[in-house]
Amino acid sequence: MHEHVTDPYVQQAKAEGYRSRASYKLMEIDDRDHLIRPGGTVVDLGAAPGGWSQVAAQRMKGNGRVLALDLLEMDGLSGVQFIQGDFREERVLNQLETLLHGERVGLVLSDMAPNISGVPVSDQARIMHLAELGLDFCRRWLKPEGAFLVKVFQGYGYDDFVREMKSVFKSVATRKPEASRNRSAEVYLLGKGVR
Ligand SMILES: C[S@@+](CC[C@H](N)C(=O)[O-])C[C@H]1O[C@@H](n2cnc3c(N)ncnc32)[C@H](O)[C@@H]1O
Repeated sequence: MHEHVTDPYVQQAKAEGYRSRASYKLMEIDDRDHLIRPGGTVVDLGAAPGGWSQVAAQRMKGNGRVLALDLLEMDGLSGVQFIQGDFREERVLNQLETLLHGERVGLVLSDMAPNISGVPVSDQARIMHLAELGLDFCRRWLKPEGAFLVKVFQGYGYDDFVREMKSVFKSVATRKPEASRNRSAEVYLLGKGVR
């Protein structure tokens, strides 16, 4: 709690009107990789409280749409359509797919992370499962030139997941933005260009 209150990114987010410190992770990655472009559709998985959706909507400059999904409620954001539900459920996936109206997606973001149970093996398995589901969604819905940015934790299943990413994407890179605290095993994988 103390760390959260004194965290410079938390303070900056407050001062600049971003909903979460996570916004700075996406901004840093996007400044380098230019993933968010006006036009088309961005899907934001694990979107609440909305920091990434805010950045995506801002950078699309009102041209294009953001479809955001989370287990938790999220306050409305201009330019963002929100679905509340569990991405692991077929019914929720169908809801998201319906909103696509058959149109492929240019960018899929997944910052999904389960509540940490404290049992490392099961936490790791759960986050890797969410990442896998995100990748499955990309297989079905990403445009050939599209990109997938996904949060994973280094640990059991990580190497296999990187291999899977490489089988789907022409290029796969890791990104560890400044706002992703050093001690955390969290890392982002960025896949670009569907094979
Ligand atoms: C680190 S937070 C995302 C922060 C967000 N990117 C932002 O910038 O504000 C992770 C989110 O993943 C969501 N989540 C975890 N499991 C999920 C699931 N099965 N389906 C949908 N959302 C999930 C959590 O509810 C949580 O809001």
